[in-house]
Amino acid sequence: MNALDNHILVIFGGSGDLTKRKLIPALYDLFLKKLLPQHFAVVGVGRSEYSDETYRTHLAEGLKKHSVVSENESADFLQSCHYVVSAFQEEDQTQAFIDKITKLDSDYKTEGNIIYYLSTPPSLYKPISKNLGTCKLSRSSSEFPGWKRIIIEKPFGTDTTSAQDLNSHLQSYFEEEQIYRIDHYLGKETAQNILITRFYNSIFEPLWNRNYIHHIEITASEQEGVGSRGGYYDSAGALRDMVQNHMLQLVALIAMESPTNFNAHAIRNEILKVFESLRPLTMEPIERQIVRGQYTESTIDGEEQKAYTQEKNVAQDSKTETFIALKFFIDNWRWGGVPFFIRTGKHLPSRVSEIVITFKHVPHPAFVKNASGQQFKNQLIIRIQPDEGIQLRFGMKIPGLGFDVDPTHMNFKYADKYANHSETNIPSAYERLLFDCMNGDASLFTRADAVDLAWKFVQPILDEWEHNTSFPLYGYPAGTWGPEKADELKKLYGKWRQACKNSTDSQTYCEL
Ligand code: BG6
Repeated sequence: MNALDNHILVIFGGSGDLTKRKLIPALYDLFLKKLLPQHFAVVGVGRSEYSDETYRTHLAEGLKKHSVVSENESADFLQSCHYVVSAFQEEDQTQAFIDKITKLDSDYKTEGNIIYYLSTPPSLYKPISKNLGTCKLSRSSSEFPGWKRIIIEKPFGTDTTSAQDLNSHLQSYFEEEQIYRIDHYLGKETAQNILITRFYNSIFEPLWNRNYIHHIEITASEQEGVGSRGGYYDSAGALRDMVQNHMLQLVALIAMESPTNFNAHAIRNEILKVFESLRPLTMEPIERQIVRGQYTESTIDGEEQKAYTQEKNVAQDSKTETFIALKFFIDNWRWGGVPFFIRTGKHLPSRVSEIVITFKHVPHPAFVKNASGQQFKNQLIIRIQPDEGIQLRFGMKIPGLGFDVDPTHMNFKYADKYANHSETNIPSAYERLLFDCMNGDASLFTRADAVDLAWKFVQPILDEWEHNTSFPLYGYPAGTWGPEKADELKKLYGKWRQACKNSTDSQTYCEL
């Protein structure tokens, strides 16, 4: 692995929750693995009043909670963390920031190389990037000659028009190659392993098409409700929050062709082709292709659960969906006629993200007998989280007389194979993505054209909901698998897999 260039990482929103919970722990892990460059500094930028010292204390609390820390090592790491109080929204609010960067660039000998991480509310993306441009900090300049990169957190726009507007705004200050749009699902180890599973092994790819695959199901279920994020979530909903980004990225990894190289350009070109092939949802009535739901009050294990509309900062008459299930097609040579189903929701029975590839029956079922007298289909189940791994489901002869068949699972779990190997411990998504950005590798970041197509795909749903006020919104009791109507959507293709926390627990649920 090449040594990284020395640089400064600036975090706008440096006093915020994401910085404390995810970014600093991820950087600390890179520090422990000796993967940070020799000269490296973090600068938090925010409105909260911290000095460098008090900021380090604030970050140390986060590290204690979210990492396994040793006092000495964390103190060494925290020495490289600095802070500057700045709103950085107006042109006259930039001087303190420029002074700090100038000093640190000289102290740390970082040669003007800077990453900007925008971990702020989305309303600040435009003013901050504009100010960086105006201060001549967005591109290489005589004062800061090195490279500049900018990482943008989601949500990237709220619909097609706002995302296009944000893209063209950013591109007036930064080149597309400098922009790293983060989708933390792409940083998940198991999501990346989809590419290796498919394109390293010769045994899966020949079957990976409409001739052998019956349908594909992707679930991202969450056990928690919206918690303290009601304000944001109520204007977003599951479609914007999960489908337009995370789930469509998983679809792309499952459906794409093999890239000619494993580089950002080639990988992202293939992702784009998948999005170009998504059948527009306008070709059928939207109501036949999606089901939306909202959790209602219930009792789980004796504990009362609030309805979504009773959550803090949520409108009492809110129509925001906390669950969505969707059926769609990819119109290309490989996938013609294979339905894809995705579903995601809050307050479902467990937190699971998984992809189930269901294969077709054999052409002539000579051996159909199993305990229930039914023929079942082969399945490959890719577990993104938790209990990361891959499971293959196939038929085995039950020992003894006759030819009765039993469904069997071959189960690979990361935890079994890589337990106690600190160097192969699954890195957090943020660790991987921050490292890649430091390395100038944008393969796992989304490109402007793909973001645009992903928005265009979901836009007809947003339009329909806006214009058709009687579009059904089904209630589902918190802690259940969403509205029953979602089962109807998938009826012809068997039941949704009742994904359990532990992958092996769910064996009994996947009968078709
Ligand atoms: C975020 C969404 O992007 O992803 C959250 O805003 C959601 O609402 C989260 O809970 C899910 O991520 P993970 O990694 O917990 O599956």
